[in-house]
Amino acid sequence: MSRLVVVSNRVADPRKTAAGGLAVALGDALSTNGGLWFGWSGTIVEGGTPGEGDMQTQQAGNVTLSTVDLCREDYDSYYLGYSNGVLWPVFHYRLDLADFDAGFIGGYRRVNQMMARKLMPLLRPDDIIWVHDYHLIPMAAELRAMGCRNRIGFFLHIPLPPPLILAAIPQHEWLIRSLFAYDLVGLQSQADVDHFSRYVGQEAGAETLDKHQFRAFGRTVHAQAFPIGIDVDEFAALTHGKDAREMFDSMKDEYSRRRLLLGVERLDYSKGLPQRLRAFRHLLQQYPENLGSATLIQIASPSREALDTYSGLRQELESLCGSINGDYGELDWMPVRYIHRNVARKRLPGLYRVASVALVTPLRDGMNLVAKEFIAAQDPADPGVLVLSRFAGAAEQLKEALLVNPYDTHGTAESIQVALQMPLAERQKRHQKLLERIRQQDVHWWRKTFLQTLTDMAPG
Ligand code: G6P
Repeated sequence: MSRLVVVSNRVADPRKTAAGGLAVALGDALSTNGGLWFGWSGTIVEGGTPGEGDMQTQQAGNVTLSTVDLCREDYDSYYLGYSNGVLWPVFHYRLDLADFDAGFIGGYRRVNQMMARKLMPLLRPDDIIWVHDYHLIPMAAELRAMGCRNRIGFFLHIPLPPPLILAAIPQHEWLIRSLFAYDLVGLQSQADVDHFSRYVGQEAGAETLDKHQFRAFGRTVHAQAFPIGIDVDEFAALTHGKDAREMFDSMKDEYSRRRLLLGVERLDYSKGLPQRLRAFRHLLQQYPENLGSATLIQIASPSREALDTYSGLRQELESLCGSINGDYGELDWMPVRYIHRNVARKRLPGLYRVASVALVTPLRDGMNLVAKEFIAAQDPADPGVLVLSRFAGAAEQLKEALLVNPYDTHGTAESIQVALQMPLAERQKRHQKLLERIRQQDVHWWRKTFLQTLTDMAPG
């Protein structure tokens, strides 16, 4: 059997409970049959040489972790600059936040070349290589230029925007041409695949061979939606673990008298946090029966704070939370509890289970695994309600959630009120259906379907 080689910017020890969806999913994919996980070490070397980085290798159970350090200049241009200052905002439809002029592309190419150079000697001829996310789009093209003939697949965890938005990136043609060096390109949703198909048709004159096969730049690529999922049983088991139970017990008394609304994410402008807070304020205004009762716990974990777009958002949120609490709070009740720290993943299911309503209202999101984790953590006898943005990739699957337009403050507030009032029988019915859906396409399905599709392909 071929060995699996996973390449991603973030690498985590799969034996430890990692913090985020991507790392958890990749750890799961690798630990099933063992393999190699290659990426950035997380270390920034002050004053190092651009395009150079030391590599470390360690064994974590049946998974070998090989990671490379980045020097400050490479980190600034590849990670902060191009990946998170250009690709992340544009792929989330935020042209207004992208910094196209700063010349970060040089660092992005340099780090991708360096990573490919370091990875190349570690590869065996029959390895299956699976590259992840927007940091590493040119990885296959770099490996091919060095003579790599392995099967290489790519999965984009974030949305792929429509052609005219993508075309705002000065290097858009080069980026999409780079995707044609892969054999398989996986996207989160059908909407993303439609955008890909339209882009390659309109901008690259691609020939569509069948609904998944596109020919352009002298190569054929297979592009398909593989919506990422969670390990439902593992998450449900975490719910009964010691940490989650302690969390549940410490909160349940208070929230048997009050109603808990919950939001959990990285502090990111794609998540629609100010819009959510405004909808919550509107709810308190329109439905005063919620005063003294409905409480929003908003966990916004620190993320990419070196970027102004992120630090500005933090200030905006702090000011909004302060004003809502100032306007509506009582001596014995505050409407918003805002937490700008990480909460251990093991404790979260306890919090999900106490919540009456989860607010997952991004302005744009590739998938959103918090929505799926919330469903997995519920008590089927008395489940909470998921309020989900129609602009999250998860909305294509989770049709029994209450779908909202997060830009519509009034409409979102109305849906939150519907969620708070929803009768038990309807909550149970919706939850049961949602649970079926997250089980049908869970993280194991995602890994197996992607890798099977890639394995079945003739090497390009
Ligand atoms: C998103 C991206 C991942 C990324 C994660 C955390 O989920 O799709 O690639 O790892 O955010 O962001 P960070 O910048 O801390 O890696």
